[in-house]
Amino acid sequence: MEKPWKYPLLVVVVVVVALLVPPAMLLLSLSTLPRINVDEADVNTPDKWIRRHPSMVRHTGKHPFNSEAPFDKLFAAGFLTPTSLFYVRNHGAVPYVDADRAANWRLRIHGLVEREVEFSIDDLKEKFQVVTLPVTLACAGNRRKEQNVVQKTLGFNWGPAVLSTALFTGVYLADVLKYVRPFRPMTNKHVIFEGADTDLPNGPYGTSQTLREASDIEKGIMIVWGMNGKALSPDHGFPLRTITPGRVGGRSVKWLTSIEVSDTESQHHLHFFDNRVLPTQVTAQQARDEKHWWYNKNSLLNDLNVNSAIAHPSHGEIVQLSKLLSLQTVASYDIRGYAYSGGGRRVTRVEISLDQGSSWKISDIVYPEDLYRMVAFESKFYGTLDLTERETSFCWCFWKYTASIEELSKSDAIIVRAMDEGLGIQPQDMYWTASGLMNNWWFRIAIHHEVKDDVDILRFEHPTLPGVTPGGWMERIKNAGLNPLRPEFGAPKQGNNHDAVSRRPLQEKCEPASMTDPEVNREKALFVVDGNVYDGTNFLEEHPGGADSIWLASGEADATEDFIAIHSDDARTKLKKFHIGRLQANEAESQGDDTTDAPPDDDPSASVVFLDRRKWKAARLVGVTGVSHDSFIYRFALESPEQPLGLPVGQHVFVRLRRKTTGEMVQRAYTPVSQQDEHGHIDLLIKLYLPCVAFPLGGKMTVGFHELLVGDTVEFKGPLGSFVWEGKGNVRWKDVPRSGIRHLGLICGGSGITPILQVLRSVLHDEDDSETRLYLLDANKTESDILCREELDTLYEQHGDKKAQTSGYAAAAGGGQVLLQRLKIHHTLSRPPPEWAFSTGRIDDGMLEALMPPPADDAMVLVCGPDGMINDAVKPGLERLGWDVSKALVVF
Ligand code: MTE
Repeated sequence: MEKPWKYPLLVVVVVVVALLVPPAMLLLSLSTLPRINVDEADVNTPDKWIRRHPSMVRHTGKHPFNSEAPFDKLFAAGFLTPTSLFYVRNHGAVPYVDADRAANWRLRIHGLVEREVEFSIDDLKEKFQVVTLPVTLACAGNRRKEQNVVQKTLGFNWGPAVLSTALFTGVYLADVLKYVRPFRPMTNKHVIFEGADTDLPNGPYGTSQTLREASDIEKGIMIVWGMNGKALSPDHGFPLRTITPGRVGGRSVKWLTSIEVSDTESQHHLHFFDNRVLPTQVTAQQARDEKHWWYNKNSLLNDLNVNSAIAHPSHGEIVQLSKLLSLQTVASYDIRGYAYSGGGRRVTRVEISLDQGSSWKISDIVYPEDLYRMVAFESKFYGTLDLTERETSFCWCFWKYTASIEELSKSDAIIVRAMDEGLGIQPQDMYWTASGLMNNWWFRIAIHHEVKDDVDILRFEHPTLPGVTPGGWMERIKNAGLNPLRPEFGAPKQGNNHDAVSRRPLQEKCEPASMTDPEVNREKALFVVDGNVYDGTNFLEEHPGGADSIWLASGEADATEDFIAIHSDDARTKLKKFHIGRLQANEAESQGDDTTDAPPDDDPSASVVFLDRRKWKAARLVGVTGVSHDSFIYRFALESPEQPLGLPVGQHVFVRLRRKTTGEMVQRAYTPVSQQDEHGHIDLLIKLYLPCVAFPLGGKMTVGFHELLVGDTVEFKGPLGSFVWEGKGNVRWKDVPRSGIRHLGLICGGSGITPILQVLRSVLHDEDDSETRLYLLDANKTESDILCREELDTLYEQHGDKKAQTSGYAAAAGGGQVLLQRLKIHHTLSRPPPEWAFSTGRIDDGMLEALMPPPADDAMVLVCGPDGMINDAVKPGLERLGWDVSKALVVF
């Protein structure tokens, strides 16, 4: 059929740009795109070769790269998003593909097809019609932070800019499938796509579409190599990816290597454990524990749902009322934003309410995508750019409602909702889901009526700010003890006083007198989470993690990440009881997103020792050494080769890292195994609990260690712990000094050896201490699980009682034999080898009696291991043997 027009693409682009981007804005966006260098944040990551726009908001620390542009920048950039501002969702490292690898890139198409083939990118260009389509990609997680404020989901805090539009150039998947001829019938078959991601813990990224849909050219699924007139960028799938228009971004597979026609859907891990909406009653914890929710076919996401957001006014924007009202001509304000829907459905209506949903006004919509329907264009790079016969809508549209200033000045909130041609409409209520996806409830902006410098102003407040930046009316309402899911804006109404909070004067006047009350001289364990202040003083005794970790958090500018990283939802709920107030938001702080990157340490005194109780300090991984089949020593370099760690014997450190694959910050306490007199590094002995059939996710923290590469950093803080071995029988426990300890029982299970070894070494290496006697009982599953065996054997050679080693514990008790040497070591294994000289089975009273010193004023027992071992065997067993465990048993 004859095409209506044939104009060069340039004309289209000029028309589009002229219509959509005011010239001043264009200049601005060009001037804000400087030559981009590799961002400092990427320098020590596997992506260190990729240049990224510095203004992108990073959501998962430094790596992997998951980011969205600041909302105002994205919106100002117009219909086509510059590639550097295009949102990125990477589950792991970007595969390194240089020109050679790209030239040799092969796409394998196989499975239930008559003609299995392998295509290079040139083959695709030669064999099939090259086409270009404008497509908006949107991540299903767009606007997730709003869900996270209501209740934390499993995902990180995406804002409303997780969508972007580009001209994608490639071939239609439908054409390629026609060429390879899938076996008939087409029903009950799937087309599975796989990417080249190599470092994901559960295999490469992959997902599928049904064969019927994949073969439907109207669905527009493409295999693409071009984006905005250039090769794809590394972050967006260079050299080859799929684009699945109208569907959640997760269905567009990057770094595409394989397409398989199969009679089962994709079995890739992330086909099941991502891009699913679980029923709203399933909590995040349940979603973690109960896998069946993810395998339920009704939870699968494909088409995007209808959504919209307000970009103007932006968060914090101020309109000066009196000024505008005096200027009759400009007494109006253009409220503007975006809308999109899924499945090719067109957005048909965008409505604005200024009275909290009682009445709605129709906004004007522009569809830049329609401009491409007016022109058919062909060129060498783009192939055919022809939407003249396409009715599907695969792109976002822009809407505008011009409100009179008078109208605005009477309103307390601006609300937008969009509708699509299938009459899908954004709901008033949020559908919260544990996966934190498809959030599309009404987008609301609060309007604050304030006076600033004697001028009446309107200040606009968005629901949330992306990332960890605090702010927005949702948090404000929640922090005031009200329900953010039932927001009512404006003057306090009956039973609702949340706006009284927002109308509070910005600063209370205070007398410039003494800032402290002389009556108040007690130290309090105050700490800050999410801008809220908590008093943990009365919880110090009960805190399962020990008083010390509360003291560590107290006095920190912000303990949010520490708290979130380590506590369950249950613990978070308990926090409410200790809430005493809220900090005033600090603008300067709220600019930054990533709080994990501690600024360089300027205080010269701080570098005398590495550890700091008040501050997280980063240390770089310099080596990993295997010590058993599943345990490794991770060595991290301190700030200088001479620097001491600064860890008293008996104490430990907090270690935190951001999981590369999930983006989650995780934190645990560890006792380093580096020797007391070693300088310049810290060694951690890590027993890896990797994903397996019984524990599909593995250990959160140890999988995080497994993901580390040499050069990566983790952060340390400390020392912490209630016990210190000060040497020669002197200890400090719960801040009370004790002396004259002559007998130290040491009990450990598995990797619980680390704090025990630290004390053991310190006693035995202390030349001034010849009196302290040590009684070690080490419990493990198998002989190969015994950690640091060689060192224990050496110490035993030098200091041990040989009888105890060779004859099992009953004989080791010695029938009255006196221990002439200082060290007694005994092992027990639940699965011993055939010739095993030590004990078998779990720790019991017999072992405790035979192997520990008898209870006495000069004896103590230190224990570290699994809760079951401590609470079911060691504590009750020692009590039965006459120990007062409250005075003599230290649990690490
Ligand atoms: N493809 C691969 N190979 N690996 C990935 O991590 N992420 C998916 C999808 N394709 C992903 C992938 C998700 S969840 C989204 S939203 C889109 O890529 C994001 O595409 P973009 O980063 O180009 O914006």
